[in-house]
Amino acid sequence: MRHRDRRPGLPAEVAAAGLIDEYRVRVHPVLAGGGEIRSRNRWPVCLASCHGIVRLGGERVRLRGREPEDWEAFHAFDEDSEAVRNGWRLEPPRSVARAKKETTEDAEKEWDLDEFSLVIVTKQDDAPVGSINTHTVDRLHGTFSYGIAVGTPHHRKGYASEAIVLVLRYMFYERRFQKAEAWVYSSNEASLALHRRLGFVEEGRRRRSRYANGRYDDEVLFGMTVEEYTERYA
Ligand SMILES: CC(C)(COP(=O)(O)OP(=O)(O)OC[C@H]1O[C@@H](n2cnc3c(N)ncnc32)[C@H](O)[C@@H]1OP(=O)(O)O)[C@@H](O)C(=O)NCCC(=O)NCCS
Repeated sequence: MRHRDRRPGLPAEVAAAGLIDEYRVRVHPVLAGGGEIRSRNRWPVCLASCHGIVRLGGERVRLRGREPEDWEAFHAFDEDSEAVRNGWRLEPPRSVARAKKETTEDAEKEWDLDEFSLVIVTKQDDAPVGSINTHTVDRLHGTFSYGIAVGTPHHRKGYASEAIVLVLRYMFYERRFQKAEAWVYSSNEASLALHRRLGFVEEGRRRRSRYANGRYDDEVLFGMTVEEYTERYA
């Protein structure tokens, strides 16, 4: 039975090596000490890397979890109606108190391994410039969607491109998904250009499927398979 343990989050190497009891007992001390344990046949099992936190960083940006201190940056982004409308939908203005509360709640939320929201920060000074989240995750078919927003002062610096490539790499190569999808409003020229430039395939259009700014808009579906990603970015 020990060898067949399939509980979520249990590293396959640990299960295969029959180290489940040892893993359960020693995982915290080992992680704290950054060490490793060895199986009875001396096969090394590095717990810090097989059950650790993936580092999502590129040349320009790094992706990290939300912190309560991020409230100010996101409150400012939320006041940029044009950008918010392009990303999702407009809401009535929020108080500072509510912005702080929501950011703290987000920071403390337990995220799913596949459905999460990350802050995009610059590599240079760790300043929050936007966010990226996965959603509509379908584990049976191996598909997922994502949303992204970069604050207007930080546009055209390659931040969105890099953040998307990083999230796709994690979802394709660490979580074994096979296709990424993105729905883009047909009036959002920046995002249409971004997805074409990244190599996404335009797969379809839902006509008159959203209302904003006094008019109806279509939604354009973009997709990229793991093979297309590998060919371009691996
Ligand atoms: C769309 C958005 C995420 C792009 O972010 P960004 O960090 O500026 O994008 P990048 O710098 O990575 O742009 C990569 C390429 O996309 C294209 N692009 C991006 N913005 C563009 C614009 N305003 N006009 C034309 N092309 C644009 C260009 O080809 C650009 O490369 P270049 O700057 O070398 O010409 C950003 O404009 C945004 O957050 N908008 C508001 C929210 C939103 O629309 N989210 C997407 C919902 S689907």
